[in-house]
Amino acid sequence: IIVDTLVYQEQYRPQYHYTPPAKWMNDPNGLVYANGTYHLFYQYYPEDIVWGPMHWGHAVSNDLLHWEHKAIALYPDTLGYIFSGSAVYDEKNTSGLAPPGESPLVAFYTYHDPEGEKSGASDFQTQGIAYSMDGGENWSKYEGNPVLDNEEGIRDFRDPKVFWYEEGEYWIMALVAGDHAQFYRSENLTQWEFMSEFGKESGAHGGVWECPDLFSLEVDGEERWVLIISINPGAPNKGSGTQYFIGDFDGTTFTADHEDIRWLDWGTDNYAGVTYNHAPGGERIFIGWMSNWDYARDTPTEVWRSAMTLPRKLSLEKIKDTVRLLNYPIEELDKIIGKREAESIEIPAGDKIVRESTFLSQAEVIFNTAGRNFSMVLENGEGEKVELVMDGESGMFSLDRSASGQTDFKEGFGAVQQMPVHGLPEGEVEVRVLVDRSSVEVFINKGQYVMTAQLFPNEDYNLLYVNNNASGPLKLEQFSLNPVQRVW
Ligand code: FRU
Repeated sequence: IIVDTLVYQEQYRPQYHYTPPAKWMNDPNGLVYANGTYHLFYQYYPEDIVWGPMHWGHAVSNDLLHWEHKAIALYPDTLGYIFSGSAVYDEKNTSGLAPPGESPLVAFYTYHDPEGEKSGASDFQTQGIAYSMDGGENWSKYEGNPVLDNEEGIRDFRDPKVFWYEEGEYWIMALVAGDHAQFYRSENLTQWEFMSEFGKESGAHGGVWECPDLFSLEVDGEERWVLIISINPGAPNKGSGTQYFIGDFDGTTFTADHEDIRWLDWGTDNYAGVTYNHAPGGERIFIGWMSNWDYARDTPTEVWRSAMTLPRKLSLEKIKDTVRLLNYPIEELDKIIGKREAESIEIPAGDKIVRESTFLSQAEVIFNTAGRNFSMVLENGEGEKVELVMDGESGMFSLDRSASGQTDFKEGFGAVQQMPVHGLPEGEVEVRVLVDRSSVEVFINKGQYVMTAQLFPNEDYNLLYVNNNASGPLKLEQFSLNPVQRVW
């Protein structure tokens, strides 16, 4: 598919975040790296800019930043719509789906039967698989679908994430069942055996659990397991959000080692995010859907709807005696960021600095500060602005988009978003902000605290203010404002 480069001139079209050329997109699906290619599949409705019978759209990339749009990979069939899921590279052909000596890509997804003929329920869901023998161009559905039936008629039984469990040498599938996650195992990807469940008594439960992901990461030479769970509604700033648990997994059961609720992103617009299977160097790369079910259908774009977050590297770090999950843009992003010319600035108490730039529509702002009382404002010629405030007294960071541009397409869109940042270490921390026409992503202390939000200014922002709200001077070490350029 050849994309008209003109689409990137459309109002609100992000320049360095993935968007479908046209029509509705939601969750990222089937994130898999195989033979030098990153695949990004996604929930897609090719007929309209609102949600409808789900397909898997498809794009590929070598660096997770430059994407090539591909043909639709999976279409609904008689078993239902194609809901969210994952994909693996079955190198040893454990599934036998490929001819001997070859290796298939295998996708796992939820069949959503809107008629609910089997159960009488309105949302009967089972799990199916499809495979590709040509690196993801063409897909065949498995004849024995569904591979995981739903005899008990469990509601909201979906979003299978499959991965290879090295220690035990078998495949594991994590999925959700309404208010908890379930784990299954398989030797061949087609026959699945129930192992355990997690979460009825843990974490946030303000809404249904969706899109689980389970993986291990190292911290201080020790292996820990992380479970990611999306929840809708019930997020800290309303609507959809993503929580995580850190704990242990013994090959059968996951146990969390904390009772507090932890959010991967505090902003309103990072949902249904999951990570890549088989990413090079054992890295854990996460992509989320940059929207919220509260208003996803109402945002003011006409040709396409919604974007993905920047790809983010996940890591664990012990900060103030607690192990945290950090998410931070992948290093490859530096390739498309203008030269960083950092300066050190001291802003007197109550004063501000102002920068004007035409590329604020696609910019990166970085600085390090030990001060905890400042605000940053992005503004345009029409006086529309978004305000990011760090308040040392309350230990809160907030994002105010109430006057950021178009906001009245949905009540509540303009509500101020809050994030407690009490867990920040003493001393200097980095504040990094990335703006791309209709989004802002804020990373504090390399991804310890993150906020992602959509914005719809009537004109691109061209002014940046940093205000010192403290009674003493604010020192910004390595302040820089850089263009982030779209490279074809
Ligand atoms: C999450 C979700 C998934 C489901 C898909 C349907 O946003 O609700 O649970 O599989 O979207 O499009």
